[in-house]
Amino acid sequence: MSEGMAQRIRELRKAKKLTLEQVARVVGVEKSTVRKWETGMIASMRWDKIASLAKALGTTPAYLMGNRTETAAPAPQPVWEEAAAVTFDDTEGVDNMTIGFIGTGNMGGALAISAAKVLSGGQIYLANRTPEKAAALAERLGAVAVDNDSIAVECDYIFLGVKPQMMQGLLDSLRLLLAARKTPCVLVTMAAGLTMESIRTMLGLDLPVIRIMPNVACRVGQGLTLYSCSADVTAEQKREFLRILSASGRLEELDEHLIDAGSAVAGCGGAFACLFMEALADGGVTCGLPRDKAMRYAQQMLLGAAALALETGEHPGVIKDSICSPGGTTIAGVRALEQGGFRSAAMESVIAAYERTLELKK
Ligand SMILES: NC(=O)c1ccc[n+]([C@@H]2O[C@H](COP(=O)([O-])OP(=O)(O)OC[C@H]3O[C@@H](n4cnc5c(N)ncnc54)[C@H](OP(=O)(O)O)[C@@H]3O)[C@@H](O)[C@H]2O)c1
Repeated sequence: MSEGMAQRIRELRKAKKLTLEQVARVVGVEKSTVRKWETGMIASMRWDKIASLAKALGTTPAYLMGNRTETAAPAPQPVWEEAAAVTFDDTEGVDNMTIGFIGTGNMGGALAISAAKVLSGGQIYLANRTPEKAAALAERLGAVAVDNDSIAVECDYIFLGVKPQMMQGLLDSLRLLLAARKTPCVLVTMAAGLTMESIRTMLGLDLPVIRIMPNVACRVGQGLTLYSCSADVTAEQKREFLRILSASGRLEELDEHLIDAGSAVAGCGGAFACLFMEALADGGVTCGLPRDKAMRYAQQMLLGAAALALETGEHPGVIKDSICSPGGTTIAGVRALEQGGFRSAAMESVIAAYERTLELKK
């Protein structure tokens, strides 16, 4: 790592009035590591750390690495509404808030893990029907294991992480406590197929609601969370909500009537992609590759293809064409996929997931 890069990190952090601790929290490292980066005491940095450090400092990886043609201004992100675009100045008060997760299963747990990268453990309350599950996660995150009622009484943001069919019973049990609150709170629902209006109707109270549709990649900070806010969610509450989930990956606001369709692609699509990943690896094994290598190559290839399409903005068809030489190996494989009805099957998978969501709503 060059002295120039260390200097740029130092200067940017000071210009943005960020503490070492704030930067460390966003990047997911110790404060002492940021200090070592600033003093050039670390010989090299991993690419993913450079990328998240750049994000925390509001610049681009290229600028940090010394590309003089890049300015210190953030790279334009026309497609995504980045939670990271919320600056620390915008989030005054976040340090005093308390958030609670009722239901710490796959999705609630994943979001609690990402919230713990932004808030301190003491600000995160966890409750679960089987309390041992919440207690184990709380121990891991330094968070507080409590019961549902404590969350209803104390938390500013209440994440409802139970299955849709459990929601009515849960809201029945929380109604009186929520109605008696003197301080405002926001309900954040992740339940597939349940609208904000249905949550309010089930609860019988007009509390502000944010509906989110996250995906499992939130666990590793690479998720996509679609969200809609009820009209009574204030700009301040929305900013705080974005800050809470800022380490989970990308966030995009979407009209509520499109959330189910978005979820069929961005949520269910993760399982479809994993099926493809596994099948590619199986093909590699059939051709003689050891299983672990075949799997790793398939994983990195899919990650790279997605990054290429996202970063260049090129249509996937253009990228595909650039890999297929005339009479070559790749086009032979494309032919095999087309013969198997691959594209049609992929489209049908999304439509089937969407139609099933509509069925479950009835
Ligand atoms: N999984 C996904 O990829 C995904 C993506 C987007 C949205 N979602 C939504 O996220 C929600 C949770 O899904 P999931 O996959 O995380 O399910 P899950 O793994 O089964 O988690 C649900 C959790 O809720 C707990 N629970 C049930 N009733 C409760 C109650 N009354 N009080 C407190 N905790 C209670 C369960 O406790 P036990 O340990 O006792 O079972 C369980 O840990 C669903 O509404 C789903 O639609 C999931």
